[in-house]
Amino acid sequence: DTFSGTGVWRYADALPVEREVTIEEGATPLYEVPRLEDEVGVESLRIKHEGMNPTGSFKDRGMTVGVGVAQRLGVDRLACASTGNTSAALAAYGGRAGMETVVLLPAGKVAAGKIAQASLHGARILEVDGNFDTCLDIVQELANQGEAYLLNSLNPFRLEGQKTIGFEILERHREEYGEFPDRIVLPVGNAGNTAALYKAFRELVASGALDEEEVPKLTGVQAEGAAPMVEAVEEGREEVERWEEVETRATAIRIGNPVNAPKALPGIRATGGTAVAVSDEEITNAQRALAGEGVGVEPASAASVAGLRKLREEGVVGSEERVVCLTTGHLLKDPDAAAEAGVEPESVPGETAGVLEHLRS
Ligand code: F0G
Repeated sequence: DTFSGTGVWRYADALPVEREVTIEEGATPLYEVPRLEDEVGVESLRIKHEGMNPTGSFKDRGMTVGVGVAQRLGVDRLACASTGNTSAALAAYGGRAGMETVVLLPAGKVAAGKIAQASLHGARILEVDGNFDTCLDIVQELANQGEAYLLNSLNPFRLEGQKTIGFEILERHREEYGEFPDRIVLPVGNAGNTAALYKAFRELVASGALDEEEVPKLTGVQAEGAAPMVEAVEEGREEVERWEEVETRATAIRIGNPVNAPKALPGIRATGGTAVAVSDEEITNAQRALAGEGVGVEPASAASVAGLRKLREEGVVGSEERVVCLTTGHLLKDPDAAAEAGVEPESVPGETAGVLEHLRS
């Protein structure tokens, strides 16, 4: 009953702090994509577009809670390792809270839009000679030495905020279809969202709002070049083995050591979900298909749809299923990837007749 705001803070009763540092995050759209739904061949397909958050990714949900906690604790310096989106969100929320912010990025592997955000929002940007996993190793050590407050998804308060993705999906889906989705498909990097959604479901079951057999199947998607979680699921292992070498066009999920795997793997297993790897080409095709229906996402986000397509083709996902795909970041995060995947601009003369002639040719 306690009204604490919209979006993430509509669920204040399920969050560990009060609403303090906010840029009105959450309340993102759940788009219909009728052509893609037809093509994939499921009962229904909706896209939960987290790119529609203030800084263009789901990270804002975690930061409004995480930075709020940091402010309450009175820490001096906020820090994160990032493939880009976390750094953009931390820079924005740290700036809003008036706190010093440092972000460690893998040099040369972060999309242009994300660096631009971290930069303008005023974070100190450290470009590290190493991949994301190396950056996170360093930030963890800095945090252990008391030099910084860590705001990666290893911080449990981040995941508390990200639970609200699950609350919103379930609430809206039932409003529109009279039932909860059968499956939620999402890209996996550190597996923070997978862990957060599973926690959201468990809390709803514990409160009696959701029946055990209504819990959606958590289905994770990784890029083939960075798929340690998929490997663990396929081999039925309890633990994920770190990949030292990772590569994918979806730089947001170019991660070899999914640190939330201990919380996420049980969720995939317990809900009857699975994990699947997709190629960069499949990711690009899915990105184009979404864009063709007006939904602009960055490559990592399109992995969810690419994974669904693959699992549907393999018969793992049934035609009777109601599915929600999570798209985690906005198209403009990675303008270079978008331009590469899109149509080429054409040169025309600066007069109408010439333009018309070109259009007709
Ligand atoms: N999609 C996007 C667009 C992301 O930026 C990330 C993670 C993920 C998916 C994976 O989510 O970790 O919850 O499994 N990006 C982090 C970052 C690593 O630094 O921005 P996860």
